[in-house]
Amino acid sequence: MTHYHLAVLGGDGIGPEVTNEAVRVLQAIGARYGHTFATQTALVGQAAIDQEGTALSDATLALCAQSDAILFGAVGGATAQLTGGAKPEDAILGLRKALELFANLRPVTVMPALIDATAFKPERLHGVDLVVVRELTGGLYFGRPSEIRAEAEGTVAIDTMLYTEAEIERVVRFACTLARQRRRKVTSVDKANVLSCSRLWRQVAERVAQEFPDVALHHMLVDSCAMALIRQPADFDVIVTENMFGDILTDEASMLAGSLGLLPSASLGTRTTAHGRFGLYEPIHGSAPDIAGLGQANPLAAILSAALLLRHSLGLPDEATAIEAAVAATVAEGVRTPDIATPTSTVVTTHAMGDAVLARIADSLPSPR
Ligand SMILES: NC(=O)c1ccc[n+]([C@@H]2O[C@H](COP(=O)([O-])OP(=O)(O)OC[C@H]3O[C@@H](n4cnc5c(N)ncnc54)[C@H](O)[C@@H]3O)[C@@H](O)[C@H]2O)c1
Repeated sequence: MTHYHLAVLGGDGIGPEVTNEAVRVLQAIGARYGHTFATQTALVGQAAIDQEGTALSDATLALCAQSDAILFGAVGGATAQLTGGAKPEDAILGLRKALELFANLRPVTVMPALIDATAFKPERLHGVDLVVVRELTGGLYFGRPSEIRAEAEGTVAIDTMLYTEAEIERVVRFACTLARQRRRKVTSVDKANVLSCSRLWRQVAERVAQEFPDVALHHMLVDSCAMALIRQPADFDVIVTENMFGDILTDEASMLAGSLGLLPSASLGTRTTAHGRFGLYEPIHGSAPDIAGLGQANPLAAILSAALLLRHSLGLPDEATAIEAAVAATVAEGVRTPDIATPTSTVVTTHAMGDAVLARIADSLPSPR
């Protein structure tokens, strides 16, 4: 029996609700396959500001650094904070930066059973299977200065987009390596017609691509990419892009799958543990204050994030596939949270969706090893 240590940070709003379901699924997989997942929880975001005075305490950061992987929910309040001071979002930005999790993988696939729950014609979704690799520790979200200040002409706001060659190089290399396990096509997305950072991005991407002669590199402007993602989404294989473009494009891409509540993510760096590559796993959605506490949140993105955790950080691909199969079977049988409901489906709560996935894990798994 192998023991794994996981840090579990539910966060705010629907974060704890969906993370609880992911933990229940992990425990069921552990029982079935003979692993123990020792989970340690900690506060982050607004919950931590309220109780500990900071969005991410040193103790929580240390707990994360010592774990084999982190399961994260979401942070954030009902309104964006316009003044200075501690912000809930500092927790996730701080974790990414401190743990050097520079590559954020966001796979987008379309479950056939959910095509009716999307806004698209079925033929447009045929063959959609793409991964966005979003650069996670640079760009506008980290550049300084970033502030609102009084000037003689009135109040001004400034943000700074900054990328080093090394930051671009490592994430493009990561994307090209990933493409080798897929359809060997990388679309590098930038705004090179306007931004200096994007012009450097394009040059570096060209140079890195020379190390991968078997991978086809294409460049696309971010505005064109936003359109092409809707027009011909099946053409994409791996998309690599800077931090903010990746943030926005993946919320758009979640509509191909049917809901923000379906897209998992893995944030990885270069550090490894005894079991695999250290990482942080979270749904791409936020804390969804509009539905927090109502039992309406879709936990499948969090559950699928747990599957990515098993695959990338713990070296347990069969267990990961078992979760993905259980999720697909659940939605194929018409079990739906409100965000992916159709007139003929059975609408369930967050917890009942977790129960439904657990039941399919119990039903469908092969005998334990
Ligand atoms: N990594 C993170 O922790 C993260 C990511 C994005 C946003 N945020 C924060 O979350 C807060 C709310 O942001 P927002 O409203 O713009 O984005 P959001 O992703 O929280 O919600 C956008 C919309 O999608 C719906 N939605 C999101 N997740 C869902 C789920 N699992 N099931 C069903 N519906 C779901 C919400 O109800 C809402 O209508 C903000 O404070 C923002 O900063 C945090």
